[in-house]
Amino acid sequence: MEMEQLVALCKRRGFLFPSSEIYGGLQGFWDYGPLGVELKRNVREAWWRDMVTAHDELSAPPGAPSTYEMTGLDCTIIMHPQVWKCSGHYDLFHDYMVDCRESKRRYRHDQVQGRWVEAKGERIFVATEACGDEALEATEHKALKFFNLRKKKADQLAWQGPLVSLTAVDDFGAVLGPDAKRLGTLTEPREFNLMFKTIVGALGGEEDAAFLRPETAQGIFVNFKNVVDSTRVKIPFGIAQIGKSFRNEITPRNFTFRSREFEQMEIEFFCHPHASLEWYEYWRNRRYRWYVDLGLAGERLRLRDHEPEELPHYSLATADIEYAFPFLADGDFGELEGVAHRGDFDLRSHMEGKLMRRGDELVVDTDEDGTPKHRGSGKDLSYYDDQSKERFTPHVIEPSAGADRATLAFLCEAYREDEVPDEKGKLTRRVFLKLHPRLAPIKAAVFPLVKKDGMPEVAREIYKSLKPEMTAFYDEKGAVGRRYRRQDEAGTPFCITVDGQTMQDGTVTVRDRDTLDQWRIKKEDCAAEIIARLKG
Ligand code: GAP
Repeated sequence: MEMEQLVALCKRRGFLFPSSEIYGGLQGFWDYGPLGVELKRNVREAWWRDMVTAHDELSAPPGAPSTYEMTGLDCTIIMHPQVWKCSGHYDLFHDYMVDCRESKRRYRHDQVQGRWVEAKGERIFVATEACGDEALEATEHKALKFFNLRKKKADQLAWQGPLVSLTAVDDFGAVLGPDAKRLGTLTEPREFNLMFKTIVGALGGEEDAAFLRPETAQGIFVNFKNVVDSTRVKIPFGIAQIGKSFRNEITPRNFTFRSREFEQMEIEFFCHPHASLEWYEYWRNRRYRWYVDLGLAGERLRLRDHEPEELPHYSLATADIEYAFPFLADGDFGELEGVAHRGDFDLRSHMEGKLMRRGDELVVDTDEDGTPKHRGSGKDLSYYDDQSKERFTPHVIEPSAGADRATLAFLCEAYREDEVPDEKGKLTRRVFLKLHPRLAPIKAAVFPLVKKDGMPEVAREIYKSLKPEMTAFYDEKGAVGRRYRRQDEAGTPFCITVDGQTMQDGTVTVRDRDTLDQWRIKKEDCAAEIIARLKG
C-alpha cells in the first residue's frame, strides 16, 4: 500500500482531516472525522478495558511474577511548572534544530540526511528530508541542478558513500540544504525545547508561565501518594491514564505519526525494587501481545530492546514496540510504544529535586553553591509495606503508548485491495479495511435491497434491534453494491440485507466483509448473530 492511498481513504470516508482545513490547516494538528473518532475511541477503550477494567487482580496472568492491581487517573493538562523542572523536561526535553538562512525553513538536525558527491572538482553534501529511495532520487536531482548537469550526464556525479545523517557532518560550509540552492546556508544545530508554553492568570509575567504537558506520566507520579492514601492498593500495582499531550515538534510529519497534539495511553507500574526486572519482562511481553491480539501480527511488528548506549540516564532497560509504517524506507520501523524500566528516578525526583547521574548513582543536580537546581516537593513518596514492615521507594515500569500512532498502525495494517464481481458479474477493484471487529467504527450495516415492498420497514426494525448493542448503520440509498463498497471502506465487518425472500420466509442475508461469504439467518436473530461473530 502507498501511504497516499490510505490518506485519500481517510479523507474520503471521514477518518481524518487536517485541523482547521478551510484556513489551510495547521501543521502537526489533525482532526478525527465521524469514522475516525469511533475508531480511536475503540483503540482507547480496548486499551483501558484490557489493561484496567478487565484485569483480574485475584489471579496472576501468564508471565506475571504475582497478582497485581490496576487503577486509573485523569489529571490536568496544565500542572505546576515545578513538575517539569523536577522531571527534567524543562532542562532536557529538547531536539536540535538547524535553520536555513536561504529558504527560512527549519529542520530537525537528526531528520536531515544526505550523500557526499563530487563533480567538476567540487565535493558537497546534498541534504534532504526524504527517506529511502525517495532520498536517493531527491539527492540526485538536487546534485544535477547544483552542478548544472543534464540527467543523461548523471555519471559525472561521483557519489561517496551511502545516505548518512546530517548529525555525522561537521563541515556545514559544504552542505547543500534540503530547500537551498547555495552551499552553507544551514546554521549550526541549536537546542529547541519541545514544551508548549502558556500563561496562567491575568498578569502574564514570566512567573505565570506554565506548560502544556508533553506526557501524561508526570500526573501519575505526582499523585502516587494520593492514590496510595485514598485507596487500598498495595504494591505491586499500576496506575493508568489516557490523555492529550503536546509537543512543539520541529518537523511534524508522516500523517498523524509525529503530531504536535496527540494522545498517550500510559501505565506507571509501581513494584518492589527486587522484583522490578521480572515485572519489566512481563510488561514488555504483555504490551507486545496486545498489538498482536488486535491484528498487528507478522513481520511489520517487532519488539526491539534498546542497546545500553540508547538508554536514558535513569533507565535500566527499555524496549520499543515498533511497526513498519509504509511511509518509512524498507527495513525501517517507527515507535508505537516504549516500555521502560525507570527505577526510582521519578518518585525520587519529585521528592528530592531534579536528579542527574554521577557514576553509578543518581544525585540531586545542584548549582555551583550546592543548592538544588530544581527543588523537589519535599513530600515523602516512599511506600510502607505493612506485611514485611519495610519502607522503600518503589521502582517503576512504564509502558507508554500513543493512541494516534496505534490507530494509524491499525489503519495501515487493515488497508486491503482485491477484485470482486459487481452486480453484472464484472470484476471490479475493491478497497476494504480489514479492521479487528473490536476496533471497527461500525459493527453492522443494515440495508433494504430496494426502497419498496415493505423492505425498508423490516430493515429499520433490525437496525433498531442492533442499536442498543453496537454501532450500527442504516442505508437505503443507491445500488446495494455501492452500499457494500462504502461499508467495506469503513471497515464494517458485517452487512445485513433485507430482500424479496425476507418478505416470504422472514430470513435475511449476512455478508462477511473479508470473505464475502453470505448466509441466511432469521431476521429476529440478527443481534445475537452479530454479537456472537464479533466475539469470534
Ligand atoms: N512517558 C514516556 C514518554 O512520553 P515517549 O516515547 O516520548 O515516552 C510515548 O512517548 C509514546 O507517545 C510514543 O511511543 C508514541 O506512540 C507517542 N508519541 C510521542 N510523541 C508523539 C508525537 N509527536 N506524535 C504522536 N505520537 C507521539
